[in-house]
Amino acid sequence: MPRTLKARPETRRPASRHVLMASAAALAVWLASGVPVVADQARTPYVKARDPLAAGRYLVLIGGCNDCHTPGYAERGGRLPMSRWLTGNPVGFRGPWGTTYPSNLRLTVQTLSERQWVEMAHTRNGYPPMPWRALDRMSEPDLRAIYRFIRSLGPAGVAAPARLAPGVEPRTAYIPFVPQAGGLVRANAGDKAR
Ligand code: HEC
Repeated sequence: MPRTLKARPETRRPASRHVLMASAAALAVWLASGVPVVADQARTPYVKARDPLAAGRYLVLIGGCNDCHTPGYAERGGRLPMSRWLTGNPVGFRGPWGTTYPSNLRLTVQTLSERQWVEMAHTRNGYPPMPWRALDRMSEPDLRAIYRFIRSLGPAGVAAPARLAPGVEPRTAYIPFVPQAGGLVRANAGDKAR
């Protein structure tokens, strides 16, 4: 291809047509290679409900989003009014990646368009323990339903603290997220030795 371009520098049109054809060919190869693309995910199944808000609420519930993103949700067995849902958590998760805080999603959706939300879910490789891999596999209609549901709740609360680098001592409460040597670990080690 570059040789063709060099041989006929004066003919601009055929050259750009070549470039177009090459791009199309490259895209076809890429699609055939089985690399997951957003278009594929859009065709995967999605939740159907009487309206997008009901679908979004259902997905948030079964996706366990409240367990981390809603303060006190897990402790109260989920008995918290929707007005408190997804307002971010000031209790951090501390591990080798530093300390991360479940974001205030009620504020996040105010700063992103629906399209940007879908793109972030499909491309962002963020920090644990956020299940980024699960979000990445969600179909586009499901992600849109979640976005619409969270938007419908309106903005509330304050931003969660920013991530701390590894080794920085948090000034907030935090949950140590590293394996501890306990009875079960020892029992498993014993099983292996037998
Ligand atoms: C085990 C805890 C946990 C669960 C469950 C969880 N998250 Fe998160 N989430 C986090 C943490 C911690 C962060 C910050 C991670 C980072 O900075 O990469 C985060 C960040 C995010 C962000 C980025 C927001 C921003 O403003 O940058 C989005 C979007 C998000 N979560 C959506 C969801 C959704 C939707 C669900 C449910 C399907 C969910 N999360 C479930 C812990 C969790």
